[in-house]
Amino acid sequence: MENTSLLSDSIEDIQKAAELILGGSVVGIPTETVYGLGADALNPMAVKKIFAAKGRPADNPLIVHIYSIDQVQILGHDIPDLFYTLAEKFWPGPLTMIVPKNDIVPLETSGGLETVGIRMPSHPVMRELIRLSKPVAAPSANRSGYPSPTKAEHVINDMNGKISAVIDGGECRYGVESTVISFENENTIRILRPGSVTKEMLSEYADDVIVDKAILNALEEGRTAPSPGMKYKHYSPKADVILIDGDYPDFCRYVINNSDDSTYCLIYDSDNGKQLPCHYMTYGSDGSEQAHNIFARLREIDNLHAKKVYVRSPEKDGVGLAVYNRLLRAAGFEVIKV
Ligand code: TXA
Ligand code: MG
Repeated sequence: MENTSLLSDSIEDIQKAAELILGGSVVGIPTETVYGLGADALNPMAVKKIFAAKGRPADNPLIVHIYSIDQVQILGHDIPDLFYTLAEKFWPGPLTMIVPKNDIVPLETSGGLETVGIRMPSHPVMRELIRLSKPVAAPSANRSGYPSPTKAEHVINDMNGKISAVIDGGECRYGVESTVISFENENTIRILRPGSVTKEMLSEYADDVIVDKAILNALEEGRTAPSPGMKYKHYSPKADVILIDGDYPDFCRYVINNSDDSTYCLIYDSDNGKQLPCHYMTYGSDGSEQAHNIFARLREIDNLHAKKVYVRSPEKDGVGLAVYNRLLRAAGFEVIKV
């Protein structure tokens, strides 16, 4: 394919992107969570191009992004009342809800499943693009397994020559992907991927909110993944990510005894890096800031050819759970407690 063109977030360029999508092409698009690789969700040939560009396994389903609430019943059926309560509260925004799919959603989009994950994004560029085109299937715009992109340049790095265009809509606000939930019954939710719509926030509207075991532990052998993404290696830079759980003085002690020239540390803004024997970067001081920065930092550290990166573990409540989950996966679920 020819070079990927870089589009601005002007109305004219969003229109160009919409035409590309209606014509069956793939476009990199900003959302409030991370950049996505968008294509017409209802066109199997277009959707296949997303899988090819990412190198994504065909059984890992794509989220379908909508513009208006009446598109929900076109895509899915047996929608519980709780779905609409949560849509009212959290849409447009970083929440994906899984429901049984209608035939209009191709099996290519749903990764062969009979369900579909639906999200109404809030980013104005993404909203306008969907309004001008169709429901848009969009995974994160990284190559499969690598940290998600939160800036247009990340998408160019991963996708140049593989997709038609990228719209530069600036830095993504949240920085981690949407919360993905399914419905156990009328009043019980299962979180399959934590995000910026937190367990605490969801608990206000449901009798019970279950955090799936696979969020904090590797998927048990023999268990069918409730979300296929759980099966695959994720978010990993080239450097080895080592997650260290503990207070800062203990973190320092561990690093002092276990680092060399190619080691980097990722610590809180409030930590004093001067005590460390190696290079360091900071990634924020609370869950929201850390979510905003984490993927960009992992990419920056890779660009510096680090071999090993020690990350000071985030808190595990609120948005911190989403950051912790991404880092756990990047670290292959190994945590060093200090
Ligand atoms: O914030 C986001 O959700 C971003 C932006 C672009 O919207 N998209 C995103 O998509 O993160 P992706 O494909 O990188 O991650 C979607 C996750 C995968 O782990 C997938 O397995 C799961 O959601 N998923 C999608 N549809 C599903 C379904 N029908 N059943 C179970 N899991 C599903
Ligand atoms: Mg992804």
